[in-house]
Amino acid sequence: MKTEIDHSVVRCADSTFRLRFTHGLRRGLGSAARCARSLGSMKRLYALLLLVVLLPCTLFAQEKDRNWYKHAVFYEIYPRSFADSNNDGLGDLNGITAHLDYLKRLGVDAIWITPCFPSPQVDFGYDVSDYESIDPAYGTLADFDRLVAEARKRNIRVVLDFVLNHTSDRHAWFQESRSSRTSAKRDWYIWRDGAAPGQPPNNWGSVFGGSAWQLDSSTGQYYLHQFYPEQPDLNWRYPEVEDAMMEVARFWFKRGVAGFRLDAVDRIYEDPDLRDNPVKVDPDGSETLVETYTTNLPELHNVLRHLRTVADEYGAVLVGETWTSSVEELQRYYNSLQMPMNFVFTMVNRPSAPEFRKQIHDAERGLGWPVYLFSNHDITRHYDRYGDRAYNDQIAKALAALYLTLRGTPILYYGEEIGMTNNDPARVQDVKDPIGRRFWPHNKGRDGERTPMQWTAGANGGFSQTAPWLPVPDSARTHNVAAEEKDERSILRFYRRLLELRHTNEQLREGNYVALNENDANVLAYLRTYKGKAVLVAINMSAVPRKIALDLRQHSFGAKAKTLLATEAQPDSVRLSEISLAPFGVYIGEVK
Ligand code: NOJ
Repeated sequence: MKTEIDHSVVRCADSTFRLRFTHGLRRGLGSAARCARSLGSMKRLYALLLLVVLLPCTLFAQEKDRNWYKHAVFYEIYPRSFADSNNDGLGDLNGITAHLDYLKRLGVDAIWITPCFPSPQVDFGYDVSDYESIDPAYGTLADFDRLVAEARKRNIRVVLDFVLNHTSDRHAWFQESRSSRTSAKRDWYIWRDGAAPGQPPNNWGSVFGGSAWQLDSSTGQYYLHQFYPEQPDLNWRYPEVEDAMMEVARFWFKRGVAGFRLDAVDRIYEDPDLRDNPVKVDPDGSETLVETYTTNLPELHNVLRHLRTVADEYGAVLVGETWTSSVEELQRYYNSLQMPMNFVFTMVNRPSAPEFRKQIHDAERGLGWPVYLFSNHDITRHYDRYGDRAYNDQIAKALAALYLTLRGTPILYYGEEIGMTNNDPARVQDVKDPIGRRFWPHNKGRDGERTPMQWTAGANGGFSQTAPWLPVPDSARTHNVAAEEKDERSILRFYRRLLELRHTNEQLREGNYVALNENDANVLAYLRTYKGKAVLVAINMSAVPRKIALDLRQHSFGAKAKTLLATEAQPDSVRLSEISLAPFGVYIGEVK
């Protein structure tokens, strides 16, 4: 669904920033003047000079610090599946802490941990029953503090998942809300009478199937749940909800959290008049609901901007779970948060030079800093989605080379750096994700992309000494950290080299994107240019060897490239008139 950009919102965001900036500046100048008045005239002159020099430096440093996320590599951790330190079959926080050195060596600057708060685990943590604690299955607050401290020592920031749209039905807020129609917390959730006896208030559907309304027999009213019935929607139109959630944010920021990934952020508001969502009839006669009145309501940006002012106090970043059907739609989020994830890029679903060229072009012409990812805990791992079964490892490297050399922030999903596959359940009785049980076999749920991290070729992939909560696939025998660390040609070693280059090479860090050979159907090539130098990236997106010839004179560059990184052996210096690429091969070189 397309929604017009709300210009009043844009204007307001702008003026809020200006206000804050001018206010800060005025306060700074005020105290400097007070200080100067108490000094002698010569000293006053020195103080003034110092001010003139220091003020721009401070503002610049502040701005630079605020932009830390632009140079960071993010890594998503599903805590249940990363590392099991106490051998109970579930991953935990101490397991993550124990592997921080691994993440550091890989080149990770920030980890995003999916919900680790107390939860009945109906939706594996996305049903939070207490926002200000840690689920005992994952550890304690002390473990969390230790994780943050250890991460900080390694310059790794910790980002948490903030579930804004709903709580668990076991949350004390909901328990109180459902206790009576006159409860003080009744309006913290969305309660309505049915349209008629036995009928929900309207036609809204849950993302996880069925009606979005659940009748609560104790008070005879329905409550809204856009996901499972155990995940009642909060009522963000009620000011106390916003206040309470801002306090939650502060609680974690004070503990050193560097930001939040905002869950289901497009769904936090619904139409207050409960208008029915329009029904679309597809050519095959099937009907789908267009979520006009349940997603992307403009009010949500007010909440995001409020949250952003809180985050700004701590130099923290907001990452949006922002599913959109186009990059244009994504643009409206940039006024409210720094990192809206570009899911359109994720869904190309085949290695295709023209398709990716278009995606990059779209992201580049947008107003905001691009945020790229290929996989996460809700979508089939890209090793399988893009793999052709003949060149899976090569394709994994080609995609890594693509999104780790683009202008923008990448978010890796744990295990992609070793080429982890999806491991979908074979039998319905093994399925853990309720969606998989409900829609079997058409939809096997999300267990497949959430299997334990493969650390070794040993039992349970070295994840745990006990049978883990989800089975480890056979591919762990070849695709695991221990084996890949030793193999110079492994996916892991390629990721490491790429990330090292990304961190150390100015053109890759700061450079502009310049598309090359735009009509080539098979090889995607581009430059990242900065201060008169450039890095060339050429990726063969096909299963046959290719040669490309590039003439960079119009960009004022010479005829040769100095090889920086390649998937196959390449000479130290390569002539641009003849670059050879193996199937899905990658060449990265510096041109001058
Ligand atoms: C999006 C999360 O990524 C997903 O795992 C979860 O089920 C839904 N939001 C509901 O919280």
